[in-house]
Amino acid sequence: MQPLADPLADPPNHVAIIMDGNSRWAETQGMSRDEGHRAGAQHVRTVAEACADLGVRYLTLFAFSTENWQRPTDEVEFLIQLIGETLENELDELDERETQVRFIGDRSRFPLDVRQKLHDSEIRTAHHKKLFLTIALNYGGRWDLTAATREIAEAVKLGYLAPEEIDENLIQTHLSTRDHPAPDLCIRTGGERRISNFLLWDFAYTEFYFSDSFWPGFSLKELRAAFEDYSKRQRRFGARNATMTASTISTIVEFH
Ligand code: IPE
Ligand code: IPE
Ligand code: MG
Repeated sequence: MQPLADPLADPPNHVAIIMDGNSRWAETQGMSRDEGHRAGAQHVRTVAEACADLGVRYLTLFAFSTENWQRPTDEVEFLIQLIGETLENELDELDERETQVRFIGDRSRFPLDVRQKLHDSEIRTAHHKKLFLTIALNYGGRWDLTAATREIAEAVKLGYLAPEEIDENLIQTHLSTRDHPAPDLCIRTGGERRISNFLLWDFAYTEFYFSDSFWPGFSLKELRAAFEDYSKRQRRFGARNATMTASTISTIVEFH
């Protein structure tokens, strides 16, 4: 298959994307909100393939937040069905492109057929190692930290763990994001400059790129521009005199 983009010399290792602006994009096109969400879902494949072609190993996408339940019921139902449908349509391609798919977030509130599709796609792609694609569904950074805290408290209560043994590493191992390195770069489309309860713990030293483009209109040219902007940043992690650029560090911290 023809790559969508030539690999970059220093791509970010882990990219997180807050895919915002579907509804406003639809409005600019004279389309319905549902059509905007559909265009947004289709756009995921284009961007994910380009990321892999540019050399990204981990891609984490925010698709549905714990706060998105507050939207009208018909929109929520449409979004959940769309997730299941898109997954079904894309699974062969994801498999072919050696993408390991996994979902983070509380899926217990989703209908059984959708949960089944999430589970099946995780099992079918579990052996792939080219691109690690994580999709956050009914995810919130606060939900993740709360669930981790509860697990840790349970272990203390049962006597498996002493409070003084709780450190950053231990907390990390109870988060849903425990298996992957922290994101190097987070891109948010749609013009807002906020985290909206995405990866609160993991973003401690993540670089941010905010785009005014709405998600379905976020072009590959802009994706490349975001990566180029990232590669020029100096990541100091609180230290002085760092001489390394962002991309050098992301290569060093990679552990897969
Ligand atoms: C992002 O698009 C999709 C989700 C949050 C599920 P929006 O529907 O939030 O689009 P805008 O931000 O209102 O334009
Ligand atoms: C963030 O978008 C969540 C996702 C993209 C899934 P929202 O549209 O929900 O964020 P706010 O409400 O503008 O903060
Ligand atoms: Mg929005």
